[in-house]
Amino acid sequence: MDQLFSKLITLWLSLASFAVFTSSAGAEPAHTFVIGTNSFLLDGHDFQIRCGEIHAARVPREYWRNRLQMAHAMGLNTVCAYLFWNQIEPERGRFDWSGQADVMEFCRIAQQEGLWVILRPGPYSCAEWDEGGLPWWLLKIPDIKLRTRDPRYLGPAKDYLREVARQFAPLQITHGGPILMVQVENEYGSFGTDAAYMGELRKTMLESGFDVPLFACNPPSDLKHGWRPDLFPVVNFGSGPAKAFASLREIFPQGPLMCGEFYPGWFDTWGAPHHLGNTPQYLADLQSMLASGESFSIYMAHGGTTFGLWSGTDRPFKPDTSSYDYEAPISEAGWPQPKYFQTRSLLAKYLLPGETLPEMPSTNPVIAIPPLEMSEYASLFGNLPEPISVSVPGTMEAYDQGHGCLLYRTTLPAGPSAMLEAAGIHDFGFVFLDGKRVGVMDRRVAAAKLLLPARDHAAVLDILVEAVGHVNFGQEVFDPKGLYAPLTLAGQELVGWQIFKLPLDDSMLAGLKFQNAPGGTPGPAFWRGHMQLDQLGDTFLDLHFWGKGVIWVNGHCLGRYWNIGPTQTAYLPGCWLRPGDNEIVILDLLGPERPEICGLAEPVLNELHPEKDFLPDHRPPVKLNLASVAPVFTGSFPPGPAAQEIHFSASFPVAGRYFCLQSLNARDGKPYAAVAELDVLGADGKSLSHDGWTIAYVDSEERVAEDGSAENAIDGQTASFWHTEWKNASPGHPHELILDLGKTQTISGFRYVPRQGGDSVAGRIKDYRIYVGDNLISK
Ligand code: GLA
Repeated sequence: MDQLFSKLITLWLSLASFAVFTSSAGAEPAHTFVIGTNSFLLDGHDFQIRCGEIHAARVPREYWRNRLQMAHAMGLNTVCAYLFWNQIEPERGRFDWSGQADVMEFCRIAQQEGLWVILRPGPYSCAEWDEGGLPWWLLKIPDIKLRTRDPRYLGPAKDYLREVARQFAPLQITHGGPILMVQVENEYGSFGTDAAYMGELRKTMLESGFDVPLFACNPPSDLKHGWRPDLFPVVNFGSGPAKAFASLREIFPQGPLMCGEFYPGWFDTWGAPHHLGNTPQYLADLQSMLASGESFSIYMAHGGTTFGLWSGTDRPFKPDTSSYDYEAPISEAGWPQPKYFQTRSLLAKYLLPGETLPEMPSTNPVIAIPPLEMSEYASLFGNLPEPISVSVPGTMEAYDQGHGCLLYRTTLPAGPSAMLEAAGIHDFGFVFLDGKRVGVMDRRVAAAKLLLPARDHAAVLDILVEAVGHVNFGQEVFDPKGLYAPLTLAGQELVGWQIFKLPLDDSMLAGLKFQNAPGGTPGPAFWRGHMQLDQLGDTFLDLHFWGKGVIWVNGHCLGRYWNIGPTQTAYLPGCWLRPGDNEIVILDLLGPERPEICGLAEPVLNELHPEKDFLPDHRPPVKLNLASVAPVFTGSFPPGPAAQEIHFSASFPVAGRYFCLQSLNARDGKPYAAVAELDVLGADGKSLSHDGWTIAYVDSEERVAEDGSAENAIDGQTASFWHTEWKNASPGHPHELILDLGKTQTISGFRYVPRQGGDSVAGRIKDYRIYVGDNLISK
């Protein structure tokens, strides 16, 4: 290994020296940045990267400089930025680097503000961004293999990277710019093991002009997957640096240690508690990395907002909120949080000789806006485009649409009550008979069926499908939107449909015909109101009275909202307002309690309203039948955060629709159980896709003091976890978590990732049993 490593250093050094040579051609006097034997070297001096993540796409362009100044004043010397392929190439071959996508300008401002840049162009980025940044138009190829060497994916991915290099190569430190390092892909090890795929991307990036070090990031448990010695490895973790860096040293015995993503908080999903992060742990771990000379990137330093329809969906299906506050040191609106000042005073102790902390910039003015009535109304059914007539309905991509809604219409004959069923629903299907809502198909519980009432006359059946973000993580990023055919009624396939495209884009909004709002509870509709402003400033539009939909102000799409929370406000940057008349448009798929809105001076990020959910009960009561079945496996998990892969060699194969992990006790002897990740291995020993998976049963989950939801155990993110109750109650073992795989599967084993972090974290399971079968529960 030492021999290999010295070869690597020579490789990285020769690359860098080549770079220094080229830059002398550049206008700006060049700096040098290399990966040294033990540390990063900036101009030949040890350099500890104190980095923080900010996404240009999630901050109004007018505020980029303010946020970068705020980050620098916190003590950061580097900012890390993702690019989102789907934002940059909205159509195959059409690149758009304008407006919020002009990350080159973001980098230039960073340099002007004294910050270096780490660039993360993808092609896949994750980041709770729609489809992880992959363009929806790739989904037009039904059997495309995303994030592989499938040429139908790799071809466009390479074209995109060449375009990225064309724009960003001149901004590298080797050419007088601020970019120190560039990432290849994102946490590929959590998705696959094909190092040659990473090699193809790396080669394209080098050939197209990137000559700074290229690196790859992964969580500790996936560092080995797809590893290549010619990509500098960094490790992502939320706590426990010692353990995480120990995992990194297993593949990278010498060289600077860097945490590519260090989480001060976490992202929110609709219907789950707001994430608060663990500040004492965050500060303690930051201190330990600073003191040990380890480099890090705080993910997120400033989260901002996922404007537009760009918010993603956590797997298997947990739609992300549009607020991306992330409990970051710099809040969604750019305010320094207590964590900001704690971080600043910590980093201040580790400045380089002669380095000083700049003054904090001022924050933007904030205004409150008195309540106003949204008095204009445009019903969705009254503003339909020309339909497309088809025999069998397809998904959105088939009609060349990637986002928004799609209306499926057919006529049903008179008849008795009957079950309407689709092969799948991505994501919410609001079902209407003659314009009256009769139910909702809901992907959260994989419910693509609905009992229709009897009809004494022929009736128009409308299924209004709302697509929320494409899943942004795992195999499930292949996520075509709409209804999955066949659609049947009482088992008979329904053919002959009209399809209405509702992309919620600017041209659709421009075509809406508004009228005075009717009384009563109208159906899905757009509402419009006007506010006269003489004082401008940031504000938070209060959406408490509204149901579920999308909001625009002066043509800017602020994002999605949903009354179940946790977010109850939409951040409205003052730079998008103007003196005088300002227009608000709200699409509400459910209908408001009352069409009123106002602007608050504070956001509401942590207010759940499960009682408002059109899905009455996420966990419909079920009867547990474990007493009557034998476990297929019993065992004990070792201490520590390492992932465990268990193969049922003895009793292979087992088959079943339900998979149950039952904890009998915990390593620390306490009553709690927690699981970071649970994968089920199919007959081929590989992880099964989580698509269509739901939680069939869980005896206990903490959802008051933190988001310990059971879904966290199957979302692919090792930093989130299922945790049994501890705030208002502490039920003891045994604890059961039962997954509904959606259909009977052949199972050869499972992969368990314990709760991550240091030795003191609670919930690490010791003895356990595994049950597999079709009758572990009965409804
Ligand atoms: C991962 C990804 C990031 C982001 C975080 C969670 O580690 O690399 O893009 O999704 O998780 O916020």
